[in-house]
Amino acid sequence: MLPESFLQELKERSDIEQMVSSYVHLKRSGRRLVGLCPFHSEKSPSFTVFPDSQSFYCFGCGAGGDVITFLMKAENLEYLEAVKLLAQRAGMTLPEDAADDRMAKLKTRILEINRESARFFYHQLTTPEGREGLDYLVGRGLSVKTIRRFGLGYAPNSWDTLGNYLRGKGYRQEELIAAAVVGRGRSSGTYDLFRHRVMFPIIDLRGNVIAFGGRALTDQGPKYLNSSDTPVFKKSRNLFAMNIAKNTKEKSLILAEGYMDVIAIHQGGFDNCVATLGTALTAEQARIMSQYAQEVIVAYDSDAAGQKAAARAINIFGELGTKVRVLKVQDAKDPDEYIKKFGPERFKRLLEGASNAIEHSINRIREKYDLTTADGRVSFLKEFAQYIPQVQNPIERDVYISKIADELSVSKEALTAQVQNNIKRQANSRRRSERRDLRVYSEVQPGHKPNPERSQNIHYALAEDKLIALLCKHPDYYPFIQARIRPEQFVTSQNREIFSLLMERLGEGKSIELIHLSGELSGDQLSWLTWLITSNEGLLTQKEQAQEYIDTILSHGTVKTPEQAAQLSPEQWQEYMNALKAKKN
Ligand code: UTP
Ligand code: MN
Repeated sequence: MLPESFLQELKERSDIEQMVSSYVHLKRSGRRLVGLCPFHSEKSPSFTVFPDSQSFYCFGCGAGGDVITFLMKAENLEYLEAVKLLAQRAGMTLPEDAADDRMAKLKTRILEINRESARFFYHQLTTPEGREGLDYLVGRGLSVKTIRRFGLGYAPNSWDTLGNYLRGKGYRQEELIAAAVVGRGRSSGTYDLFRHRVMFPIIDLRGNVIAFGGRALTDQGPKYLNSSDTPVFKKSRNLFAMNIAKNTKEKSLILAEGYMDVIAIHQGGFDNCVATLGTALTAEQARIMSQYAQEVIVAYDSDAAGQKAAARAINIFGELGTKVRVLKVQDAKDPDEYIKKFGPERFKRLLEGASNAIEHSINRIREKYDLTTADGRVSFLKEFAQYIPQVQNPIERDVYISKIADELSVSKEALTAQVQNNIKRQANSRRRSERRDLRVYSEVQPGHKPNPERSQNIHYALAEDKLIALLCKHPDYYPFIQARIRPEQFVTSQNREIFSLLMERLGEGKSIELIHLSGELSGDQLSWLTWLITSNEGLLTQKEQAQEYIDTILSHGTVKTPEQAAQLSPEQWQEYMNALKAKKN
């Protein structure tokens, strides 16, 4: 456990506003700061920093906590790693005995296992058994240089070759399972997860092999298999080939859909291409890309699924304010096939001609209608007028309105009026839905699953919330509260656990500021507590209020009929009497 004094100093030296600012563009709003949440994708800012309590809370997804929790989430770190990083920034060193980093050790082992596995897969290509894999890669047009550059490999058609090889190198079963290169078998053994596949190692920005993708050589099983998340790998925040693309001299990054597209594009001479890892683009991935590029060119498959995914990606980058252009891959299903058919020169021209995000969206709307008919033109204009308000910049909006009015020979004034109307309507409906959301928040913590125990006891739960919030604001009320209510008397377990910890710490004379709690509460508990504090900000904080909340909580189950009282066990009876007594005090 870290000493209190250390955490206190760390807190004084680390400002949450400053820390968060390096991840999120924050705007001041009264005593708070708001910005777009880095942990989920959103259009209007619900991520809030509270400098007074040195905490943050997102009213959209429910993430919340202190500066340590923020770093843990933002950088995917364990508690001690985050403390260490924070201490480094603050110019402090971690007390020696606190360096109990079992997790850090496991991570190092997993990285070694991954590196060994990548070497193993690569080596397989040179063996007779691996010939099939090599033939496959070469058959898809990859040069030996490309294969080496990406460290591609082959996983043999066997259940235990890799597992045995790694155990021979001294890695333990549990470590191999944690690395997700083997699975736990029915009996005691393990089995290799990647079999009879060509292998694509996924390498992070520091050059660590963190995971694998494997493509099947036959039609059996899924076409691509990707590592599950492990302590060193989170799908949602890594990109294939980012380790290479980050060094590009280009100002843009190309985002493709698949491993083979990325590799074909690189081989064609474009070193700035990346792909997500078998899932749709996340806000985190978009943010990482935006840090390395002024512009992103989306080069997804030409099929409907690819186009839909492209539209989503455009929105995500749009929210970040990153410039996006979209490639239209024609007469080929994906960039890989395009380059094979038409060559890299033509792909280059395709890149140069990629349309910007707004043009692309308008084109997609246009394709839905037959503009040679009056009906088609009207429907198109209607949908255009619905879409264009999303463009924030009024000058940009005007340019497209002019262009479309011109193209369809309609009055620009009429089209502008229609658009203005929609802008007003959309703003109104947004305000309404925000108000509605706010009401729901009082029942359920935003971003979290409804909690039935809480809903059924909402009357008591709200009083518990307020008592906890009040205690956090006024730790000096501890004796007053301690004399009147015990944690066991809390009705909802979520609040009971937190209240219990707070009271215990106060009883030991310890601080209950968030920074001292982040090591003791789970992530969910901490974000819940932050929510309690922030959503009860305007609370009156007199002892009378404390008494009122306590009365409310204690009234739960204390009103019993004589018949009910007769049914109680001795313990329950004692509990009941205590509650009555506490109420009288
Ligand atoms: P595609 O099916 O478009 O594959 O999936 P591809 O890249 O064109 O593959 P080839 O050319 O047939 O070899 C695009 C991406 O979606 C993920 C992979 O990351 C793949 O590269 N994917 C696809 C999976 O994760 N699992 C699958 O079963 C299929
Ligand atoms: Mn393909």
